[in-house]
Amino acid sequence: MSYTLHINGQLVSVQAPGTARLLDVLREELGLTGTKEGCGEGECGACAVHMDGQLVNACLVLVCQAEGHEITTIEGVAAQARWRPLFDAFVECGAVQCGFCMPGMVMAAAALLRERPRPSEAEIVRGLSGNLCRCTGYRKIITAVQRAGERIASGS
Ligand code: FES
Ligand code: FES
Repeated sequence: MSYTLHINGQLVSVQAPGTARLLDVLREELGLTGTKEGCGEGECGACAVHMDGQLVNACLVLVCQAEGHEITTIEGVAAQARWRPLFDAFVECGAVQCGFCMPGMVMAAAALLRERPRPSEAEIVRGLSGNLCRCTGYRKIITAVQRAGERIASGS
């Protein structure tokens, strides 16, 4: 089957079975390998992308469900200057260790900060609750999201 997807601001055509996962299409057909596969069953958030601005796990979305929706991956977020402070804050706060969870964490944080520019700690914990990290203990990630929110909201 042929599908036309709207990915990171561009229309792309892909050939895939309708039951193909968006995660596999992104990584294997489109080379967007920033989106990671962890559990493959909706539990870890490593594969998080935005679909029409909402956080979704790409391992649970079929390509046929993605057609007609605006998909943004970590590559698309990284290309937007407004999210630069988010990446900077993760690095400054030492919130990245092995890095495997980071694309999903950043996607979850961006979705949260779009809704709540200055989230409370409880809101950050809730916003990142679908994302697992085996390395950091989460404290530095929460600090990074707080710092990024302050900077983005204040425009500094
Ligand atoms: S790989 Fe999709 S949620 Fe874990
Ligand atoms: S930094 Fe290693 S899983 Fe999060």
